[in-house]
Amino acid sequence: MNQDQLKQMVGEAARDEVLKLPAGQVLGVGTGSTANCFIDALAPHKDHFAGTVSSSNATTERLLKHGFQVLDPNDVVSLPAYVDGADEINPAGYMIKGGGGALTREKVIASMAQQFICICDSSKQVPVLGNFALPVEIIPLARGAVTRELDKLGGKVTLRLAKSTRADLGQTPSEPFVTDNGGWILDVAGLQIADPVKMESIINQIAGVITVGLFAKEKANILLVSNSAGVERIVF
Ligand code: 5RP
Repeated sequence: MNQDQLKQMVGEAARDEVLKLPAGQVLGVGTGSTANCFIDALAPHKDHFAGTVSSSNATTERLLKHGFQVLDPNDVVSLPAYVDGADEINPAGYMIKGGGGALTREKVIASMAQQFICICDSSKQVPVLGNFALPVEIIPLARGAVTRELDKLGGKVTLRLAKSTRADLGQTPSEPFVTDNGGWILDVAGLQIADPVKMESIINQIAGVITVGLFAKEKANILLVSNSAGVERIVF
C-alpha cells in the first residue's frame, strides 16, 4: 500500500469518526494532503454539519468547491472537533505541524475545538519530536532577531523559500515563502524536543514570533493512524 492510499484510508476513517458527532454542528478542518483526503471523503455527507471553519486559504477553496459552508471563525462559539494532519506526532500526542505553512490558523482553530483529531499514516509517528524541522512563523522584520534567538536552542535555522506549489500566488522559489497571514517561516532543523510543553513556551516568548509549529498545549486528543494493516484509533 503506498502513502497516498494510506492517507485516503485514514481520511475515510476520520469521516466515519466525525459522522458519529450529533448533526447540525460546525467542524474545524485542517490543511495538507491528508486533510484533503478527509475533505474529499466527507463531501457527500456535508449536510451533516451546519458549516466548517477552515485553517487555510487552500482548505477554504477545497471546501467551497465541494459545497461546504465555510464560516468566519469569529462567528463560531462552539466547535466539537478539529481534524488535521501532522508532520510528526509523539506517543503523548504532541505534534510538529506547519510543513504546509498553515500553522497559525491551524493552532487558532485547534484552540477553539473541544477535541483535536489527528490523522496521519504511521510514518509520522516518532519517539521524540524534532527530525522534521520545526516551523516558526514570524513577522518578516524580525527575521534576524528571531533567528539569533532560535540559534541559541541549538538547531539550524533556515528561512523557508517559496516552492512551486505557491506559484498560484505569484511566489517564485528564490523569494521567502509568504503565509496566508503575510508572515515568513523559519524552519529549525536538528532539535531533539524532549519537553514539547517547555519548548513551545520558550519559542512563544521570542518577540516577533507569530506561532511555533509545536502543538503541545493544543495536542491531539485522538489519533487515527493508518498502516498497511488498517487504521488504529488511539485516545490520549
Ligand atoms: C500544514 C500542516 C499539515 O497538517 C502537515 O504538514 C501534514 O501535511 P500532510 O498531510 O500533507 O503530510 O501542518 O501546515
